[in-house]
Amino acid sequence: MTENQFLIANYQNKIKQGSVTWKSPSNIALVKYWGKKDDQIPENPSISFTLDACRTTTTLSFSEKEKIKDDEFSFDLFFEGKLKEDFKPKILTFFKRIEAYVPFLKDYHFKIETSNSFPHSSGIASSASGMSALALCLMDIEKQLNPDISDDYFNKKASFLARLGSGSACRSIEGDLVVWGKHDEVEESSDLYGIKYPYQVHDNFKKYHDTILLVDKGQKQVSSTVGHNLMHGHPFASKRFEQANENLSKLIDVLKSGDLNAFIEIIESEALTLHAMMMTSLPYFILMKPNTLEIINKIWEFRQESGLHIGFTLDAGANVHVLYPENEAVQIYEFIKNELVAYCKNGHYICDRIGFGAQKG
Ligand code: PMV
Repeated sequence: MTENQFLIANYQNKIKQGSVTWKSPSNIALVKYWGKKDDQIPENPSISFTLDACRTTTTLSFSEKEKIKDDEFSFDLFFEGKLKEDFKPKILTFFKRIEAYVPFLKDYHFKIETSNSFPHSSGIASSASGMSALALCLMDIEKQLNPDISDDYFNKKASFLARLGSGSACRSIEGDLVVWGKHDEVEESSDLYGIKYPYQVHDNFKKYHDTILLVDKGQKQVSSTVGHNLMHGHPFASKRFEQANENLSKLIDVLKSGDLNAFIEIIESEALTLHAMMMTSLPYFILMKPNTLEIINKIWEFRQESGLHIGFTLDAGANVHVLYPENEAVQIYEFIKNELVAYCKNGHYICDRIGFGAQKG
């Protein structure tokens, strides 16, 4: 598929007004996306677990403008019930980027009402769940205007639009594992949108847990746009992009065999490499906090002593995602509560697990 297949020549139906609601999850990358070309085209393929508990719910109400095609985007944005002017520029940029693919955007006035299942100040990025929820609402309207579109097209285009809002958002449409970015060994994989992982997944990875330890809840020190741009001219960039491709190849075998030790090695190496890229760019950043390192060391000690399959990953921040299989969850959760929660800001953490994608309503 190319971008052109998401262009719309005309709509079958006319609708004056309506309202749609979608709930969309966050996701956590196992092989990381860090570095992009224009329009959120990734420099390397990535794969993620779709999450379940961390979600954004968005209601998009639309009413036909009196003066159609007045060439302005018209919308109000409410976050957790309050009008939020400061979120508007991001949405405006998103609308401008997707306008060619969603030509009804200027025909309506929109009311966007959005809320998260997790606290806004938790340091959990809401861009993946937020942008995917909004993209799904727009696709829902497109489906009302053109009811013949297939589910496959609906999901692909929702992912395609979400990508133009925030790259990793394209991995939040479906579950439970999503690949985004062209990879030679993953059929149908594309730089344009995420696809559901198409190969065999061992039972060990079903119901996988992700307990998110909130180490630092502050404002992001580096925006992801700035972060991705630091990979341009980065001394290790091309090797890193190669490595991500190799790690995804390895992960295909691991997901099939159920080898948890090999899984942990890949995800932890990916997390540390992501941070190593930030530490070795110019300007350089350290996004881990002392407590991030305390937690990592505790996890390593406990893994050594207990023989249990506890591992971690990180996103572009200080919080730690502790990943573990369902059949070891009781003991590992006990360890998290007793030993790791003390390192969280105000003792805050979120119990999440692998999820199955966005839902309407
Ligand atoms: O989607 P963005 O532009 O916010 O980038 C996300 C990048 C990481 O979360 C660090 C990695 C990933 O693949 O999700």
